[in-house]
Amino acid sequence: MKIFFLDQSGKPGGAELCLIDIAKPHKDHCLVGLFADGSFKNLLEQNHIPVEVLTTQAIQVRKESSLAQGLGSLGQLVPLIAKVVQKAREFDFIYANTQKALVVGALASFFSRRPLVYHLHDILSPEHFSSTNRRIAVTLANRFASLVIANSQASQAAFVAEGGRPDITKVVYNGFDPKHYQSHESDVSQMRKQLGLDGRFVIGHFSRLAPWKGQHILIEALAQCPQEVTAILVGDALFGEQEYVQRLHQQVADLKLEERVKFLGFRSDIPLLMAACDLVAHTSTAPEPFGRVIVEAMLCGKPVVAAKAGGAIELVEHGVNGFLVTPGKPDELAQVIRTCLQEPQKTTTIAHNAQTTASQRFDVTAINQQIAVLLNTL
Ligand code: UDP
Ligand code: GLC
Repeated sequence: MKIFFLDQSGKPGGAELCLIDIAKPHKDHCLVGLFADGSFKNLLEQNHIPVEVLTTQAIQVRKESSLAQGLGSLGQLVPLIAKVVQKAREFDFIYANTQKALVVGALASFFSRRPLVYHLHDILSPEHFSSTNRRIAVTLANRFASLVIANSQASQAAFVAEGGRPDITKVVYNGFDPKHYQSHESDVSQMRKQLGLDGRFVIGHFSRLAPWKGQHILIEALAQCPQEVTAILVGDALFGEQEYVQRLHQQVADLKLEERVKFLGFRSDIPLLMAACDLVAHTSTAPEPFGRVIVEAMLCGKPVVAAKAGGAIELVEHGVNGFLVTPGKPDELAQVIRTCLQEPQKTTTIAHNAQTTASQRFDVTAINQQIAVLLNTL
């Protein structure tokens, strides 16, 4: 099975990290075509997955763009589509992993007569996308895709609610290699020492810095927690959210939390950093389509508190394998943090439950098998 994967991003967001795991078993007979250069390309190369950057200029349309702005980018799209059509003839499928990849992939699928698979990593709701973008995605998927793989029931439901065809849609969760999330105790204590976290109760937040990821909610909650509670914010502004980064630094200064909040930037050693935490917080203020960080925390054996919306509800059962709090409510989050601090035994049991179930439920080999079965039916 020869697959031509398409992804718009040069940077490694969750959809891109998921694509690495999906493309890996196909590495001898696939190509990943990117619409922008960047560190995602390097990651694919490190994993020996063939990759080619198909454009010299990133496409200027954003999630909130209007039709006029979208049409303005046509000059960039036409040569890109022509290139994809030509290359697609060497493959059995086109597999679009992002929205702009869907636009290009849909037209290329038509002209090259290759079936199109769309991996939907987003919740197509007004909180996330303009109505134009939602309409374009649903219309193209309905008309051109043979299969839509939704990363959660929440993403599937939003797609269908926007008029997407339920008959072509299947839910497949992200897959993970549990081995990758095991760390040596000595490395963990060295990391805690190196980051100056000894003797602290450490909450980790692992997300790109973006307003809807809600780092500000964690900072606000921290101000309501005992002095020993410290947060590490791991991740960077990947898609131009510099103003939000400034706001976060200002908030930390205003609340006099400089000693208790550490910005670590984008890191490639997530499992070790998670292992160095006492609790992992997910604080998205808009529904999270899936939430890789939630599963990763579970695989690291760390308790996780997540915002109760979107895919997170499918991953976490409150009090059983983690904690859920109302999105955008720092008081509730602070309450859970204080409970974890006071009841370490109970919290550890919950984290162990989560680790066991997550390693079975999200095992990458089983997930890739689910995708293979779906592709074989096309
Ligand atoms: N991540 C990373 N380095 C960082 C911050 C995050 O590698 O500094 C990874 C994180 O481990 C997770 C992914 O980025 O696998 C984020 O995926 P998620 O589904 O949580 O959110 P997204 O950014 O895709 O909306
Ligand atoms: C997207 C979503 C995220 C999801 C990831 C992988 O980036 O924002 O929630 O976990 O894709 O499917």
